[in-house]
Amino acid sequence: MPSDARRIITIDGPAGAGKTSVSRRAAGELGLAYLDTGAMFRAVALRLGQDGHRLAESDIDAALAAVVFSLDGSGADTRLLVDGKPLPDSARTEEVGAMASKLAVLPVVRARLKQAQQALGRTTDLLAEGRDMGTAVFPDAPCKFFLDASAEVRARRRVAQLAALGRPADYAAILAAISRRDDQDRNRAEAPLAAAPDARIIDTSAMTEDAVVAAIVAAARA
Ligand code: DC
Repeated sequence: MPSDARRIITIDGPAGAGKTSVSRRAAGELGLAYLDTGAMFRAVALRLGQDGHRLAESDIDAALAAVVFSLDGSGADTRLLVDGKPLPDSARTEEVGAMASKLAVLPVVRARLKQAQQALGRTTDLLAEGRDMGTAVFPDAPCKFFLDASAEVRARRRVAQLAALGRPADYAAILAAISRRDDQDRNRAEAPLAAAPDARIIDTSAMTEDAVVAAIVAAARA
């Protein structure tokens, strides 16, 4: 298994649990490259387009075989490059997240991305963040976390994030979108969102981001 050669820490959890900002900061403090695997699924969604999940399996496989993922920089400043370029800001929208979630049920997509994720883990010490890092991609990682929070808390945080970007959003619509994505991510047949049996579960509902980062860094160093 690649992870015995490299230091790998995994952080999994549902959409909106605060994984991305926490993971980036923890990677910085721990001196590991940060791998945002959700961004890889989002990149695939942008590549295949709106109805990508309806394409023939062989076409999806051929399209993904041609994509090269790499990491640039280190720690909190790590950037994921797709064919040598950073992802556009449009990749972070809830619409692209929903497209990514539909593609993520397809075994062909999961197999290609797992291969790419494990290849990155063979050459780089990683803090890998996603839905199945501790269960399927790096099952032998010595240190695993699962971040959770209620759907209501996650929706409220998302509304606040969007408001800070000057994009007021409807709480009920965001909550419905988050719940739909949870349902899809948790109930798919292949590598569903779940905590690995050996993951530390952190409920972030009543925690500040600083407290979550501190908990992860302390546990990873211990
Ligand atoms: O973390 P995110 O919201 O950027 O992820 C977008 C979607 O990609 C998510 O709804 C499900 C999928 N995903 C996955 O299935 N496995 C991962 N390791 C990461 C993301």
